[in-house]
Amino acid sequence: MQIQPPVHPNDREAARTLARRVADAVIAKPNLVLGLPTGRTPIEFYRELVALVASGDVRLAGVTTFNLDEFVGVRPSHPGSYRHFMEEHLFGRVDISRENINFLRGEAHDLQEECERYEKAIEDVGGIDLQILGLGTNGHIGFNEPAGALEARTHRVVLEPETRRNNAALFGGDPSLVPREALSMGMGTILHARSIVLLATGTSKAACVERLLNGPITTQLPASFLQIHPAVDVVLDEAAAANLGRT
Ligand code: GLP
Repeated sequence: MQIQPPVHPNDREAARTLARRVADAVIAKPNLVLGLPTGRTPIEFYRELVALVASGDVRLAGVTTFNLDEFVGVRPSHPGSYRHFMEEHLFGRVDISRENINFLRGEAHDLQEECERYEKAIEDVGGIDLQILGLGTNGHIGFNEPAGALEARTHRVVLEPETRRNNAALFGGDPSLVPREALSMGMGTILHARSIVLLATGTSKAACVERLLNGPITTQLPASFLQIHPAVDVVLDEAAAANLGRT
């Protein structure tokens, strides 16, 4: 696992590096299969990627996307849904083909079947080439929360209170309105991606970043499993790297 040197002075620079990395991967393989995150952290990254598309630097028309997760019981058009987030920050602003956008359907009648459908869809396109990840303040990736055991495949999750608080902005600032459950790619789904880039910015991530890079591999910090993947890069700003004893 490598920290993309140098540690970036701010979140904007970190986002710019990641957008360039994604654009270069798409230029090298126009039908790239891309795994995508939501959250506050990637907003700047999506803005930079949209700018690269707008300037003609890269086209996303041939790219296939799979988002990591979605809330249970929330329609795609709901302003709190991750699908809505993605429309607002990326899909609605670039030349991506609608039929190439893959999303977990949180309002599906049979959630188990929905999880199996998603796994199969990933398999059918030959797997994820490049998975972009954010980092929960409790060390979760996707919605794989700290636990005694972690699910390998796409599954239904009960969200931690901390995670619901961190997602409250999507639901008018009220954590009690954040759904209690979500669907998420599993740890195995994520670790099967051919390459992974984790983006972490801000002081709230500094403790987790230090543990995920230097600590033991533990289900209590799901992101620590990235240590066993052969092709992971970690893109940080100075605030997120503050506990690493380097700049
Ligand atoms: C949510 C998402 C995660 C994301 C995390 C961090 O819980 N399910 O995929 O990494 O938020 O969010 P933020 O970037 O807002 O700190």
